[in-house]
Amino acid sequence: MFEMKTEFNESNEHEGLVIGLFDRPEKFTGLLARLDEIFEGQLKELVKSGDITAKFKSINKIHTLGKMGVKRIWFVGLGKEKELSFEKARDVFGQLFKLIKAQKQEELAFAMETFTTEGLTALDAAHAAGEALALATYEFKGYKQKSNEPEKRLENLTIYCGSNDFEELKASLTVGYAFGKGTNSARTLVNTPGNLLTASDMADYAKNLAAKYDFEVEILEKAEIEKLGMGAFLAVNQGSTEPPKMIVLKYQGKDDWKDVIGLVGKGITFDTGGYSIKTKTGIVGMKSDMGGAAAVLGAMEIIGEIKPEQNVVAVIPSTDNMISGSAFKPDDVITSMSGKTIEVLNTDAEGRLVLADAVTYAKHHGAEYLVDVATLTGGVITALGLHTTGAMTNHDSLYEQVLEASKESGERIWQLPLFDTEKERVRNSKVADLNNSPGSEGHALVAGAFIGEFAEETPWVHLDIAGTATTSREYDLGPAGATGVMTRTLALFVERFDPIEK
Ligand code: BES
Ligand code: MN
Ligand code: ZN
Repeated sequence: MFEMKTEFNESNEHEGLVIGLFDRPEKFTGLLARLDEIFEGQLKELVKSGDITAKFKSINKIHTLGKMGVKRIWFVGLGKEKELSFEKARDVFGQLFKLIKAQKQEELAFAMETFTTEGLTALDAAHAAGEALALATYEFKGYKQKSNEPEKRLENLTIYCGSNDFEELKASLTVGYAFGKGTNSARTLVNTPGNLLTASDMADYAKNLAAKYDFEVEILEKAEIEKLGMGAFLAVNQGSTEPPKMIVLKYQGKDDWKDVIGLVGKGITFDTGGYSIKTKTGIVGMKSDMGGAAAVLGAMEIIGEIKPEQNVVAVIPSTDNMISGSAFKPDDVITSMSGKTIEVLNTDAEGRLVLADAVTYAKHHGAEYLVDVATLTGGVITALGLHTTGAMTNHDSLYEQVLEASKESGERIWQLPLFDTEKERVRNSKVADLNNSPGSEGHALVAGAFIGEFAEETPWVHLDIAGTATTSREYDLGPAGATGVMTRTLALFVERFDPIEK
């Protein structure tokens, strides 16, 4: 799919050539000057008239009308050279690939050097392009009956770059593409409705992933979950006809099973709220309540592709949260795997219950660092809106590493506090060690604090993606629907992870 070549030549044949245009006083040097010559000065005229502009994110296409081997040229506006960051380059590539997809182009060449700046190397640009290619052209086909017309998609990408090691450049492009693909897998899991993605389906998905990437896999069935005493996880599943699955994947990239990172993802395939039932509007969209699990699985796919020297255990508690004669109910007291008892005040606060046992189980598998990802609370949406993931932690330097990864992936996170006041609210029960819903004030915080009770002394970061897992609007790097948020952040965090001295 990706081909690398040295300097572009006028006679090279391509359906399209992509050129980056910076807003510079001196516009026509190198490749641009050569092209302007071919067009007898007309290129300059097009820039003068504004038909081609370097304005950030503007994309202008011209036909070459047989004057050269390339049929069309796509000029990509990059704005001021100093202002082009990795994130902005990725966004601009996203815009471009959307257009390329809409125009059904199957083949394309890039003049990669026209995208580089002092701060952005050709390798960075290639990574950004690879990631954007996968992300921006993602589509969830859905289930409409329609003709099986084979669709045209971009299949061949040639990169022209004189000054780089081709192997490195190709690797950068391929890694970027893998990050995008893993995110797309997470998106598809989230977009799939609850009737078509049960806990059993999620377990099968994980098994296939394990087979493909040679991960160790363990699927705990209901009987084993009972034997291990995961009473919090079981309570949530109690009203369901679908059996629960505790899904574990292990990736070992070091000689010894040490410095193990535990990735824990909430895998509620549908959340009705249980007896604390959701409203008829609030319940719609709750197929996305396994967004955390999807991010973890997507990250594992990337990890399988890039094979970092790290050890990872992924743990996903999966079930739906249903109502029936056997369902759990408010006032019930349950016993978690850790031994801590929990008074259930709200069956809709089910995420923290399944995560409690999953966090405990991740530690049993040797996790020394924990990151949990969950569509956990409406409260985080009230606090931070729909574009920022809420984070909490018991360990500043672990948080710092997650934050760094999130900055590079462009998936914004913002820290919320973990104060004693919230820990106390979670511990306030007359009949049990903890309660699962101490009231709606700051409920993103108490939900996080609740999970913290199970992380205990283990360094832990909590990511609440209730607001960010889906979007109602199309954006540069994808369509409306599932975003696959935190997939890339998790994978990058794992890739770069530096064990913390204890
Ligand atoms: N899955 C929901 C959180 C959610 C809300 C995700 C909106 C995506 C969009 C979670 O299980 C839930 O119901 N949380 C309750 C907690 C409350 C009962 C303390 C909430 O946020 O209302
Ligand atoms: Mn709920
Ligand atoms: Zn939920």
